[in-house]
Amino acid sequence: MKAIVQDVYGSKDVLQLRELDKPIAGEGEVLVRVHAAGLDRGVWHMMTGLPYLIRILGFGFRGPKIPVPGMDVSGEVESVGSGVTRFKVGDEVFGTCEGSFAEFVCTKEEKLALKPESSSFEEAAALPVSALTALHGLRDCAQLEAGQKILIIGAGGGVGTYAVELAKHYGAIVTGVCGPSKQELVRSVGADHVIDYTKDDFTELDERYDQIFDIAGNRPLSKLRRALAPRGTLVIVGGEEGDRWLGGTHRQIGALLLSPFVKHNLRSFISEENQADLQVVKELAEAGALKPVIGKTYPLEQAAVALEDIEAGHATGKSVILVAQ
Ligand SMILES: NC(=O)c1ccc[n+]([C@@H]2O[C@H](COP(=O)([O-])OP(=O)(O)OC[C@H]3O[C@@H](n4cnc5c(N)ncnc54)[C@H](OP(=O)(O)O)[C@@H]3O)[C@@H](O)[C@H]2O)c1
Repeated sequence: MKAIVQDVYGSKDVLQLRELDKPIAGEGEVLVRVHAAGLDRGVWHMMTGLPYLIRILGFGFRGPKIPVPGMDVSGEVESVGSGVTRFKVGDEVFGTCEGSFAEFVCTKEEKLALKPESSSFEEAAALPVSALTALHGLRDCAQLEAGQKILIIGAGGGVGTYAVELAKHYGAIVTGVCGPSKQELVRSVGADHVIDYTKDDFTELDERYDQIFDIAGNRPLSKLRRALAPRGTLVIVGGEEGDRWLGGTHRQIGALLLSPFVKHNLRSFISEENQADLQVVKELAEAGALKPVIGKTYPLEQAAVALEDIEAGHATGKSVILVAQ
């Protein structure tokens, strides 16, 4: 089978298109014929091995333990290993795996769900990691309530577009922060108000928010807190541009350390996929509450270009690699 492979960490040039043996589903595993593979910042982190923190966390010290990139997958079940009860050959599925930039991938059955009936393979591959992050961030970490005013920073990106859609679904009043090229998009996915960060600095405006959901931009905690209501909640989801050791995570660590000493609730989280929430994402997609925005698609051969675009940091919605048509 064709696959994108990397032997070492580095820039996009470490990615090579190679022929690999087709994997065989082991116990509890499903072999998926990949139709599409979603992309996100996490794939770039695994390609570069940056920040170094991820190497210490077990993803491989000198080089990646998993040579084929890609976590988000959609496709058809090709075969099932012993003990698999939820899926059969031919089922259309989506979920997460280790190595979706390939024609076939094996993954545990609990990492998959049946593809939303209303979604194409391309859309389904855009859902798992980013939609689960928005769900875990807004539902569990922020505990967002109807009527609350929420500011979503990085609203036009992969996690951001889902966060806007979900926050509206939960009945919040949403302000999205994004660059000039994404103003219309962010409005179209449901934001009540949109701020262009190249024109206005929301930390200098009068508006105060019950919740700030910070996905991009790396603004200091002190500035973000200026835009929070007196007992408001700040959730740091991500943000790049940090040093090579911690990346953007220094703000997450800072928020958790500072929170016990201030009236604001400063929080962070790491989204972990699970089958129950993948099922929630499927149902939200079928209900029309989550509609993937696909900014760009690429053939498998252009995975390196796709990751270069992600690195530039201005993705529109989700990017997807189309493996089979
Ligand atoms: N905590 C978790 O479990 C978790 C899970 C997944 C991802 N993450 C992290 O979340 C972050 C975002 O991920 P993503 O997949 O959504 O990234 P993405 O698709 O690349 O989107 C980032 C968005 O931020 C916008 N942006 C860039 N600079 C900005 C600024 N100064 N102010 C406001 N918006 C800005 C970009 O476009 P414009 O500049 O054109 O608006 C882009 O749309 C990453 O750091 C990732 O590692 C965390």
